[in-house]
Amino acid sequence: MRFDIAKGGSGLTYEIRQIVNVANKLTEYGVEVTWENIGDPIHKGEKIPDWMKEVLIEILRDDLSYGYSPTKGVDETREFLAELVNKRGNVQINHHDIIFFNGLGDAIARAYSSIRVDARIIMPEPTYSTHLLAEVLHASFPPNTYRMNPYRDWSPDIRELEQKVRSHKAIVGILVINPDNPTGFVHSAETLKQIVEIAREYNLFLIFDETYINIVYNGKKTVHLADIIGDVPGISMKGISKEFPWPGSRCGWMEVYNYHKDEKFQNYIDTIVNQKMSEVCSTTLPQMAIPKIMNHPEYQKYLNDRIRHYERLSNIAYNSLRDVPYLIVNRSNGAFYMSVVFNEASLNDRQTLPIENPEIKRYVEKLTSERIEFDKRFVYYLLGATGICVVPLTSFFTSIPGFRMTLLDRDADKFEYIMKTLAEKTVEYIESAH
Ligand SMILES: Cc1ncc(COP(=O)(O)O)c(C=O)c1O
Repeated sequence: MRFDIAKGGSGLTYEIRQIVNVANKLTEYGVEVTWENIGDPIHKGEKIPDWMKEVLIEILRDDLSYGYSPTKGVDETREFLAELVNKRGNVQINHHDIIFFNGLGDAIARAYSSIRVDARIIMPEPTYSTHLLAEVLHASFPPNTYRMNPYRDWSPDIRELEQKVRSHKAIVGILVINPDNPTGFVHSAETLKQIVEIAREYNLFLIFDETYINIVYNGKKTVHLADIIGDVPGISMKGISKEFPWPGSRCGWMEVYNYHKDEKFQNYIDTIVNQKMSEVCSTTLPQMAIPKIMNHPEYQKYLNDRIRHYERLSNIAYNSLRDVPYLIVNRSNGAFYMSVVFNEASLNDRQTLPIENPEIKRYVEKLTSERIEFDKRFVYYLLGATGICVVPLTSFFTSIPGFRMTLLDRDADKFEYIMKTLAEKTVEYIESAH
């Protein structure tokens, strides 16, 4: 190469995938890995029902499913989704207000890259990596965050949010993830209304990532952004990766609320659409499938059964871990993740777990000999000693040490066994050098 061509990155990495490299290395040494790291139900053995496959086979017979679609997406599907929003009654949109992307990951990248570099979006901490990485990449400056408080069930610190919005004039928008990844927290209607009010008072717009909005359990109730937004400009992000579940379809969309209410917001949305135009369109086939699957007589029951299963696993995890000393454990009430926090000062750089295989032991010791976060050290030892693969909480851009795991195992008994092992090993690890 004539000169160094790679663009400098932000130095931040997507740890959910990164840990896979380490786990794969351990499989070479014979470790049987239990994947609790990535939110892919298919990967964890979810069986797609026959009726859903039949719907897709039928669409495949239609040649149109092989073609490009309009830039913003298939018209009939956007009309169908707009109608769902309008039925909620608080805000009215039409199909022009819906824009499809190649997965929400793509929508997230577009949403932040279309914002002026000096304008910032404040986001929860910890936060789902894709949002934070995209926001930091667009601004080349550290993020603005509001705390999700593990000592208060992971609820957001609204006072901190308001105070930061007031004092940082660069903040133009607020991100809410509801239900939340990585915490499994479900926002109450009351809190969400307060956030809408902050946006109204300071002339901000809202981004609500509602990927998991229909996956709520343990009797919790929440509302959609479309139920409470009133006349504040906002975007709801939704997709089918988790709900159908069909993450490989790479299909998600933005619902734009109150496009006409603010000229500056309008320019911003137009910038997103113009960017999208240069890419022609997003995946056609999954868009064609959306109304057919959501309207299918089996759909709601299928989704409800899955939700009941996540609820069961959320309670198994909570009951297995809640009495473990050194841990702060909150029950997840939505999505399919749970984040557990280590008590302050319970971790250090001397703790270990016994690993029998000398090659694996050497590998883990090498990984942990570098200066790494204490929770990452725990995660590597846990992986080497038990094969259980979780994600360090600090990789969700928080200084709070902990780990995130998924609630996706199909076998509840196996999951209970994994949770018991996790509980035992946590204590053993911490007490190895306390
Ligand atoms: C909160 C949240 N938003 C967005 C995404 C991205 O989903 P996709 O790109 O598969 O649509 C995920 C995936 O885990 C997520 O958890």
